[in-house]
Amino acid sequence: MLALLASTALVAAETDAELTVHAGKPGAVINPNIYGQFSEHLGHCIYDGIWVGPDSTIPNTNGYSNAVLAALRDLHVPILRWPGGCFADEYHWKDGIGPAEKRPSMYNSHWGGVVENNHFGTHEFLNLCELLGIEPYVCVNVGSGTVQEAMEWVEYMTSDASSPMANLRRANGRDKPWRVHYVAVGNESWGCGGSMTPEFYADNFRRYNTFMKNYGATPKDALYRVACGPSADDYDWTDVVMKSASNQMNGLSLHYYTIPHGDWKHKGSATLFNRDDYLSTLGNTLHMEELISRHSAIMDKYDPKKQVGLCVDEWGIWTDVEPGTNPGFLYQQNSLRDAILAALNLHIFQAHADRVVMANIAQMVNVLQAMILTDHDKVVLTPTYHVFEMLKVHQGATSLAVELKTSDLVPATEKIPQVSASASRDPAGKIHLSLVNTDPDHAVTVACTLDGAPVGQPVGRVLTAGNMTAHNTFEAPHTVEPMPFTGASVSGGHLTVALPPLSVVILEL
Ligand code: AHR
Repeated sequence: MLALLASTALVAAETDAELTVHAGKPGAVINPNIYGQFSEHLGHCIYDGIWVGPDSTIPNTNGYSNAVLAALRDLHVPILRWPGGCFADEYHWKDGIGPAEKRPSMYNSHWGGVVENNHFGTHEFLNLCELLGIEPYVCVNVGSGTVQEAMEWVEYMTSDASSPMANLRRANGRDKPWRVHYVAVGNESWGCGGSMTPEFYADNFRRYNTFMKNYGATPKDALYRVACGPSADDYDWTDVVMKSASNQMNGLSLHYYTIPHGDWKHKGSATLFNRDDYLSTLGNTLHMEELISRHSAIMDKYDPKKQVGLCVDEWGIWTDVEPGTNPGFLYQQNSLRDAILAALNLHIFQAHADRVVMANIAQMVNVLQAMILTDHDKVVLTPTYHVFEMLKVHQGATSLAVELKTSDLVPATEKIPQVSASASRDPAGKIHLSLVNTDPDHAVTVACTLDGAPVGQPVGRVLTAGNMTAHNTFEAPHTVEPMPFTGASVSGGHLTVALPPLSVVILEL
């Protein structure tokens, strides 16, 4: 009995963690765009997701689903990438303007082989962004488009002159230009965007870039030009493109998806998985840290002042589709595991806030690691949505250095720290601390020291559930939801936080 008690005590001691938040050591400002989203003409992200059309029986505002709009308002989406993805390099923007019934349709060859009617086009996208106060991020077609198309699209969206494209926009009902700052020059040009070599792409980037003019009145209105960056660990791509074109770009993209089993042919289910699957998923997602560090180091060679931002403009978990759904629609459920994974990635981006200026989770509605699932007029907010909503307090705040002593989960082939932490000070001076307990079996007590600032009675929320596969459905939409957090206490100037297993906590200190 004594031996049993001793070993239990040992396990309890091993699960404790120590954290110091250095309030006096501010780091880079966390670009709000790290909390960005991605919306592609894929499955039901746009159609029957964001867009139901003005004639729909589903309650809508100018064609946008009211339920989706309401959910997005609470999320404070900073930036939205569109129209793809692979779709972007097949998209011809002139097919998506003018009277909807006159717009030509096209075959969406990448995603489910459906016919795209082009009813959601430039006006519908940019008006949505305007309605919600979101920065649009438009990806131009390099793969199957022309320089002229890209050049004219920029003019159409942003010129206030009495020029042909600006006048075409006016004829289509929009007088003033929209504010479009962020543009990507092609998507995955090494793959679905044209199977290019980095040398060929770099030349094309420079060519397209030359003709995409700045129409804004001030230098602040100039386009923020994002070059197509690497897939995962293709370090050669980064090296070549940075060497050849870093002087013409503002950002370089990076795409990395978390595949639960690490195998594209057998990805794994979104909701039916065990502890081993969970550990391998977390191990795979934490690879993001190494990717960012190594790509940043290459970027440092050509851009030591870190003027070119790393834009992780596609990331998230990619599982098997839900049984019975179109495999080309990439519709997957979203569990507590995905919430943990989202928080870990956001922490990684925040830790690299000096280089990572944007990240766009794939995707916003009904596709991959979605924020929102829809069924006609009903919406389900996923566990990932709740993480983005809880951690939004970090947007635009100054990151604070953290030092963490924590044990690793066992058994795992990759190192998976039990606790992850990220802290920031917002412009009003409030310090926020987000914490994750990745451990499916053990609670953990985190002894926190706030160095350089007094600690008050913290208030916070927690996202957790009884098991890692817990998720929200249309029948049970509130299974995984944030709750008030009562596990933080202050004594003698020290903060102690008791994190339940599988939890994400946000605290205002
Ligand atoms: O997000 C789904 C797809 O993943 C995108 O279209 C493509 O860019 C990536 O391969």
